[in-house]
Amino acid sequence: MYICSCHAVTDGAVRAAIKSGTKTFAELAKLTGVATQCGICGRQAKALFYQILHEETGVETPPQREARRLAEAADAAAQTPSCAATPCGRAGGCQGCPSFHTHDDKPIE
Ligand code: FES
Repeated sequence: MYICSCHAVTDGAVRAAIKSGTKTFAELAKLTGVATQCGICGRQAKALFYQILHEETGVETPPQREARRLAEAADAAAQTPSCAATPCGRAGGCQGCPSFHTHDDKPIE
């Protein structure tokens, strides 16, 4: 299947490039010319490149990396205690507390 008609680049050529060591879309573009003329193929070619790169090498695709980053941030946020869960129970978080204190309710000196 052709993914770039300007430079006659196929999905097979992308796979072959990856198997021979191409690790970035920029390298692929330099090697094959994909997405370097009219640019219409760029978005789809990049998605296909990362899909094949993942299939061949296990490297995370940008969407997978972003999903992992968001999940890690959500986990970190869930593990961060909030003032609402402490004995003071004040709204607005510790920064808004008039007597700024730690979560074990010890005053900060
Ligand atoms: S179709 Fe790929 S650069 Fe034009």
